Amino acid sequence: MKARGEIVASARDVTKTYDRGRITVLQGVSLDVRAGEVVALWGASGSGKSTLLHLLGGLDAPDSGTLAVCGLDPCHEASRNRLRREAVGFVFQLHNLIPDLTVEENIRVPALAAGKGKMDTAARVRVLVEQVGLGHRIGHRVQDLSGGERQRTAICRALMNAPRLLLADEPTGALDEQTGDAIFALLKELAAREGVAVVLATHERRFAEACDRIVRVRNGKVSEV
Ligand SMILES: Nc1ncnc2c1ncn2[C@@H]1O[C@H](COP(=O)(O)OP(=O)(O)OP(=O)(O)O)[C@@H](O)[C@H]1O
Ligand SMILES: [Mg+2]
Repeated sequence: MKARGEIVASARDVTKTYDRGRITVLQGVSLDVRAGEVVALWGASGSGKSTLLHLLGGLDAPDSGTLAVCGLDPCHEASRNRLRREAVGFVFQLHNLIPDLTVEENIRVPALAAGKGKMDTAARVRVLVEQVGLGHRIGHRVQDLSGGERQRTAICRALMNAPRLLLADEPTGALDEQTGDAIFALLKELAAREGVAVVLATHERRFAEACDRIVRVRNGKVSEV
């Protein structure tokens, strides 16, 4: 774990366009994220929240500017692969789990990608499911779970390889209010307990206000609120 307060991810003057430059989404964005903090990326639909998360997670590359996550550069392929495997966990709005697989099998996927087998990972999977209150569901197939249980499974999967940066793209967007609150509380608790830096995209004010910092995304720029 990194010491609290240490910079885990940074973006400098990042620009991102789509459609061969016709759509400018981010225009000179700079941002630092520190260990143990929960940062809200807050902005209207289409403002570029997901785009910025994808850049930080090495799922997409910027047009210009620099990025560093745990000392790795998501713009370079070898570095990006390591970053996705070891440094970053991603939680999507619609969990993106494999419905036919069990909770345990889904959570293990990132470990398999990192070359670890069932024996090496059983204990870690057990700790994670207990942490999110899903111990009794470990052997159930994801297709049989509720929305909140699926999202908790997705959080475990994102944490499987002990990332220092957890990127969550509207993780409560598909959930009812009460379940959404529980998932949000869980993310905050993980940041506090494990020193994971969490960047959470949301357009819900109540979640943004409960984060340590709010970074507003608007007109291609970010600003601290
Ligand atoms: N692959 C793409 N090709 C073209 N335009 C894209 C692509 N991906 C995103 N965009 C555009 O970039 C802009 C920002 O999209 P993004 O998904 O980052 O917004 P967002 O803030 O996450 O919105 P939401 O709250 O609806 O999820 C939008 O106008 C979107 O249409
Ligand atoms: Mg989005």
